[in-house]
Amino acid sequence: MIQALQIGGALIVTAALLQGVLALYSQIARDFRARQADTLRLSRFRVQTEQLLRRADADRRKSELSWSGKRKFRISRKQAENKTGSICSFHLTPHDGGSLPPFEPGQFLTFELNIPGQAQPVVRCYSLSDSPEDLSHYRITVKRIGASENEDCPEGIASGFFHNRIGTGDVVDVLAPNGQFVLDTHSDRPVVLIAGGVGVTPLLSMLKYLNDNNSQRETWFVYAARNGEELACRDEIEQIISNNSHFHSLFVFSDPTEECVEGQDYDCAGRPTVELLKEHLKSSNYQFYLCGPAPMMELMTRQLCGWGIPDRDIHFEAFGPATVKTIQKDAGSGETPSESVGVKFARSGLSADWREEDGSLLDLAEAHHLKVNSGCRAGNCGTCATALKTGKVTYMATPASEPAGGTVLLCIARPDGDVTIDI
Ligand SMILES: Cc1cc2nc3c(=O)[nH]c(=O)nc-3n(C[C@H](O)[C@H](O)[C@H](O)COP(=O)(O)OP(=O)(O)OC[C@H]3O[C@@H](n4cnc5c(N)ncnc54)[C@H](O)[C@@H]3O)c2cc1C
Ligand code: FES
Repeated sequence: MIQALQIGGALIVTAALLQGVLALYSQIARDFRARQADTLRLSRFRVQTEQLLRRADADRRKSELSWSGKRKFRISRKQAENKTGSICSFHLTPHDGGSLPPFEPGQFLTFELNIPGQAQPVVRCYSLSDSPEDLSHYRITVKRIGASENEDCPEGIASGFFHNRIGTGDVVDVLAPNGQFVLDTHSDRPVVLIAGGVGVTPLLSMLKYLNDNNSQRETWFVYAARNGEELACRDEIEQIISNNSHFHSLFVFSDPTEECVEGQDYDCAGRPTVELLKEHLKSSNYQFYLCGPAPMMELMTRQLCGWGIPDRDIHFEAFGPATVKTIQKDAGSGETPSESVGVKFARSGLSADWREEDGSLLDLAEAHHLKVNSGCRAGNCGTCATALKTGKVTYMATPASEPAGGTVLLCIARPDGDVTIDI
């Protein structure tokens, strides 16, 4: 009897002990999980704080170091970026020896080039193609337009000048980085960067930014070209893609040469389409950035819209005068009058009549020998944004991004009734 009681007692004690141990174990496990969650929260918080501090520091340096008007830059390096040499990179360092302001991945520089034989400086924009994290220099990558490759196309004035006349040590006039076609660096959503031809430049800068910040964002780099000879910076791109397990590339050739091997030199023949993207992307929940020839961008933006991608997730930039979205954006109230309307240039005190055949307000201003800064002349670069003091305008094309309140892009604006502009 006593023995049975002793055994019972021992069992009760053991059970109590076991319960205690189990309770202690689950408490330790709970504490461990809570500590893990805390560590994760803390590390996310640390990353976010670091990002905020970095951005605040970049904003401060940008406002301290940025310049208005022209600044002289020396070409510190010139380098061919494809097999035929039709695409060249130019490294630029400030002639005054000062520091460079940070820029956002996707932005461009505007050049005022004094080209022999041209009555006025030639203004052209070139995207910054290097990482915004390396401010030892700026880099642009220029494709030579026309020349030997197509006899019907005259040699490009500015691109020909860069390729044929500009070399290491030469000095050029440059306006500060600008542009609204920039990577959303605050987001952690996956991204698809779609480049066509030399449109690769702003997207390469975005890719380099993501890589330099050790991004965990799933990133697809889709690069379309006619064939391997037209690809710029291929080694650089492939090295970045192989560096980060979240990065993927797709090379799409529309006209592969005999030496191009599918699966080795390129991933598929044809042009980039949404069907191709659907084969590789997990869903449609990505941010899309596109830059390339107008037909490619027209097709892709139309197909992306058809796939249900909201407008806010489709970002694009066109290099040439072609517009991507053909819907006319009406910034005014009604139809453009066929009769002449009055245009006042407030600062110069000039007045002019505008008629349909006068073209844009930029054309009209230039026809009256007024100096207006311009770059793309297609509503892309924002260089011609000017205050509209009275009246309304109609845009002949959709601006790549809305200019600041109260200003209009003269290169694509026509007066919608009498107007006064601040020139
Ligand atoms: C925001 C922005 C960023 C840009 N970034 C780059 C860049 O990173 N690298 C780059 O090489 N270019 C870039 N460009 C294009 C560049 O600004 C020039 O338009 C281009 O170099 C042609 O200028 P050009 O003076 O050599 O040619 P032009 O003398 O103006 O034109 C010569 C001939 O080429 C045709 N043409 C003009 N532009 C193009 C074009 N883009 N494609 C095909 N034919 C054309 C013209 O119709 C004409 O027949 C960018 C443009 C913009 C607006
Ligand atoms: S010149 Fe580029 S927006 Fe007008």
